[in-house]
Amino acid sequence: MSDEMNPNAPQLVPKKSLGKAAKLLRLLFSVIDPRAYAHALKILNYYNYSHVTPLRRIKTLGHLGEGAAISPNATFANPERIEIGKRLKLGARCALWAGTGSGHIKIGDDVLFGPDVMVTAANYRFNDGHPVTEQAMDEADVVIGNDVWLGTRAIVLPGATIGDGAIIGAGALVKGDIPPMSIAVGVPVRIVGKRQVDT
Ligand SMILES: CC(C)(COP(=O)(O)OP(=O)(O)OC[C@H]1O[C@@H](n2cnc3c(N)ncnc32)[C@H](O)[C@@H]1OP(=O)(O)O)[C@@H](O)C(=O)NCCC(=O)NCCS
Repeated sequence: MSDEMNPNAPQLVPKKSLGKAAKLLRLLFSVIDPRAYAHALKILNYYNYSHVTPLRRIKTLGHLGEGAAISPNATFANPERIEIGKRLKLGARCALWAGTGSGHIKIGDDVLFGPDVMVTAANYRFNDGHPVTEQAMDEADVVIGNDVWLGTRAIVLPGATIGDGAIIGAGALVKGDIPPMSIAVGVPVRIVGKRQVDT
């Protein structure tokens, strides 16, 4: 079928730019629009329950303040089941989601998370005929050892363990056990090397 006859063919649409007056009006309406303020409150509320309050409830092993650098937009779920060692570096927009019932996240000392890393200790079940959101969670602990580096956008799934000194590549999907000092990359993760320590 030629493009002219195909109703789903991509259309060439000329880009319209807003004039100065229209931009000014848009700014004015934003400033007086009560919905914008209501939305700002929602964001405040979100950061309070996903970051500020949880930070006080995480099991910090008494060391969170010492050398820690936690991005202010990192989020935490079920912080009472999250344990953090010393000198954690948690990058922008990281998410640590422990389970609602039993799945813990345990993080050792000197762990570095790049931006956008996701760690979850819970899966939804999906086979009992109800919508996924109404089904039970299947939870398993995630354990991350000491001196581990997780690259940008790594995802760590329930039940994963990452041994001391391991390096996880950017964008990796971590399932199962990663041995200590491994360099692991890819989706799903595979071991591509061993971290060498120069003497
Ligand atoms: C994992 C990492 C540290 C490995 O570095 P390295 O030891 O120099 O590894 P190499 O570049 O020699 O790559 C080794 C192999 O793994 C592959 N590889 C490396 N990083 C990869 C990644 N993130 N995803 C998929 N494959 C990757 C390479 O293509 C290469 O494969 P090949 O042997 O088939 O050619 C690095 O690639 C990485 O992902 N760093 C994260 C960077 C980051 O997120 N920074 C900001 C956060 S602080």
